[in-house]
Amino acid sequence: MFHQISLAMSNRMHELEEKDAIDRQDGTPRLQRLRQIPPETGKFLALLAASAPSGEIVEIGTSAGYSTMWLSLARRHITTFEILPEKAALARETFKAAGIEEQVTLIEGDARDHLNSIHNAAFSFLDAEKDAYEACYNLIIPRIKPGGILAADNAINHAPTLQPWMDCVLEDRRVDALIVPIGKGVFVCRKI
Ligand SMILES: C[S@@+](CC[C@H](N)C(=O)[O-])C[C@H]1O[C@@H](n2cnc3c(N)ncnc32)[C@H](O)[C@@H]1O
Repeated sequence: MFHQISLAMSNRMHELEEKDAIDRQDGTPRLQRLRQIPPETGKFLALLAASAPSGEIVEIGTSAGYSTMWLSLARRHITTFEILPEKAALARETFKAAGIEEQVTLIEGDARDHLNSIHNAAFSFLDAEKDAYEACYNLIIPRIKPGGILAADNAINHAPTLQPWMDCVLEDRRVDALIVPIGKGVFVCRKI
């Protein structure tokens, strides 16, 4: 997968990496910042998604589509949700520039209003506002097939906020879960 990233996708990845780095330094307000995953998390997610059972990828929190490009390397259909219109517009530009617009369905709106229409999910990436994680998890887990995976970002850098939810998931007998210390910490849950 990593050897087959097109030049167009690689260029867009670098563009967004630069924009994200500038956002973090120039005082851009938090909601406007891209807040992307680091590349090592992207590679980890692509490997996990490619190893999931057959079925589609559901991403919650698109931003400008950086993580979506990594997920696209798993060569499956992706449904991705973004609540902010400006970010959704950037994501559309990304999908076109990277040549993955046919592979991706972008739904503009609050994922919590749409997740009950998902069927055939094999892999889900959760990267929205942290106060939405629990609701998104409760909506998506019943829709992920056995052996499928949900990966949630920021398990380490947002641990104070996410710990109560992660503690509940660790007790949830529908999944096996653990925190993987890569990037900002990825909470990986495999559906039993
Ligand atoms: C951390 S950023 C996502 C970064 C992206 N996954 C990446 O690595 O390139 C979180 C994004 O989720 C969006 N978001 C937050 N809550 C959401 C919700 N309930 N439904 C859909 N999108 C949401 C935000 O507008 C923001 O663009």
